Amino acid sequence: MNFDEIIDRRGTHSDKWDMMEAKYGISPEDGIAMWVADMDFRPPACVTAALRAMTDHGIYGYYGDDTGYRTAIQWWMETRHGWQVEPDAIFTTHGLVNGTGLCVDAFTAPGDAVVIFTPVYHAFARVIRAAGREVRECPLVNNAGRYEMDFDAYDGLMTGAERMVILCSPHNPGGRVWSRHELQGVADFARRHDLILVSDEIHHDLLMPGQRHIPMAHIDGIADRLVMMTATTKTFNIAGGHSGNVIIHDEALRARFATRMAALGLSPNSFGIAMADAAYSPEGAAWVDELMVYLDGNRKVFDAAIAEIPGLASMELESTFLAWVDFSGTGMDRAEFTARVEQQARIAANHGPTFGLGGESFLRFNLGTQRARIEEACARLKAAFGDLQ
Ligand SMILES: Cc1ncc(COP(=O)(O)O)c(C=O)c1O
Repeated sequence: MNFDEIIDRRGTHSDKWDMMEAKYGISPEDGIAMWVADMDFRPPACVTAALRAMTDHGIYGYYGDDTGYRTAIQWWMETRHGWQVEPDAIFTTHGLVNGTGLCVDAFTAPGDAVVIFTPVYHAFARVIRAAGREVRECPLVNNAGRYEMDFDAYDGLMTGAERMVILCSPHNPGGRVWSRHELQGVADFARRHDLILVSDEIHHDLLMPGQRHIPMAHIDGIADRLVMMTATTKTFNIAGGHSGNVIIHDEALRARFATRMAALGLSPNSFGIAMADAAYSPEGAAWVDELMVYLDGNRKVFDAAIAEIPGLASMELESTFLAWVDFSGTGMDRAEFTARVEQQARIAANHGPTFGLGGESFLRFNLGTQRARIEEACARLKAAFGDLQ
């Protein structure tokens, strides 16, 4: 796989490239899109071959018999994560934002509160609020550039209205791979406050060298209140296929979730399933291993450049391709550092406050692109903050 090949995504209905001008006022002609969390790489060849086989056949009827797909998920979770998944525990949703919304619907009622550890993936709060539930933000502690949890503080924030907690593991943004001790802390917190725990593990394959992800399913004392969410979409850059898995081993929770799926008439999209099925294979696994070596290289180039700009600090990524950069050391207000990034460097990056409390002085940069673009972005950022040198 040649991850260095520049692929022009303009004019392909790419949210990241084709909506950049409308959202940021940055032209895709000379701007660099580092916001939406998809990558500028083609997926492994086996994914495209699966789609090509479908288009060659040319009939696009309803999808049925997902035995092979469930077996592929079982194989992937066992070989990559040492986690045994029962085929009956798997629900296929239209992605994990959809999965989050279904969980909110299935396991809470309007007026209830849902706990999230902020700053965190912005769609959690959006979905919770849109469903008429309250967001209970538990701020992560930024300990010298590394996020940690403070359960004593979180205990004090609970009002009794909370019914569910959503964990992002590994964490977006900030890139933490939570330790067993931290995950046990989340499980104990969920039990203490009688919360259903939804563990969004969409980034679990995107591990930097030397990192090991622990599935929440391997943590003690949580099985009867645990909902796991996984997907192929981030790992293999196939988010447009809108498919994800909500995996529930507890039978009572599973029945509640199944009722919501039935109420909404949800069934799988055959294109998303075909891609996911093909990706969870030895060829897909070899591709991810190569991808992570490349992303690790991108991260090193980017972090080295950020370290040279006084006042900027990039959190060390243990996972994900999403760099979380703190501008507080510049002494500039948000409007100024954002304007320098967007108007001078012509880079579209996600705004920190959308991720909740603690994100105010940050921007998130997507490093899932060709090395040459990362180098160009670094040069532009150095120039935009050149007066600080
Ligand atoms: C933690 C997390 N969950 C879910 C998603 C999106 O999931 P989907 O595209 O399957 O709806 C993202 C995308 O960045 C994410 O970071």
